[in-house]
Amino acid sequence: MNEKEKKLRRLLKGPWSEAELYLSESVSSTNDLAKKRISEGPFDRLIYIAKEQKKGRGRQGRNFYSPSGGLYMTFAWKEDSLPAYPGILTILSASAVQLALKKNYGKTIDLRWVNDLQIGQKKVGGILTESLLDGLSAKVQGILVGIGINLIEPPGGFPEEIRDRAGAVFSSLPENFDSLSLAGQIINEFSNLYPGKEKEGLDLYRAHCQTLGKEIYYKRKGKIFRARALDIGEDGSLIVEDQNGKKKNLLFGEVEILKKG
Ligand code: BTN
Repeated sequence: MNEKEKKLRRLLKGPWSEAELYLSESVSSTNDLAKKRISEGPFDRLIYIAKEQKKGRGRQGRNFYSPSGGLYMTFAWKEDSLPAYPGILTILSASAVQLALKKNYGKTIDLRWVNDLQIGQKKVGGILTESLLDGLSAKVQGILVGIGINLIEPPGGFPEEIRDRAGAVFSSLPENFDSLSLAGQIINEFSNLYPGKEKEGLDLYRAHCQTLGKEIYYKRKGKIFRARALDIGEDGSLIVEDQNGKKKNLLFGEVEILKKG
């Protein structure tokens, strides 16, 4: 075990300190590597961390721009079935990032339902929660949380296509900053919230969710609707009021938010 691994293991709390660790400079996608490892054989917990991804994936099959100097991480664990409300895992992961950045670096980030990490109007990171099912039995083999954070702006700035909406957490890295420690702090915050403190994590998410109170446009089954975002449900859904004053729960995965306040 090298020094970096030892340091991360010392920081990780509870069962995560025993996780399989895979630390790299550059990978294809930490979520893809974690899925491959899970499909290869029994595991309990695993953590992949990289500074660059060549094939980073975002929601809805989009690419996730992952230049060198960011933090790209996936942590995965074995669970026999999905939680009753799987969408809650993304919510709690976002709250964990929020807590880790605030407590350790004094940085406040906002959250955009459901998986965007924001500073003001700029997206500084995203979360992709996935599960791996056994093809035959449809049993859950593992649950994965993938988190990508733009720590600082890449040299030369963000590519033209995303320049107006992408941002970074820091303008320059804090002294002695170590992205592996941030990864460990995020996992510790998540494991403090899940399982057991889902309500606390949800309340924190609500407090930092910039979607709430805003007019949004969403697409469901090919149709576009306008609504006002009111709250986050206990299941992680976005509760909205449509133009006729009727309340609806928008479920993660079922709708695409087109314009977020
Ligand atoms: C999104 O904003 O749509 C979600 C982005 C999730 C990116 C992270 S980076 C680490 C992990 N590996 C991936 O390929 N994706 C996730």
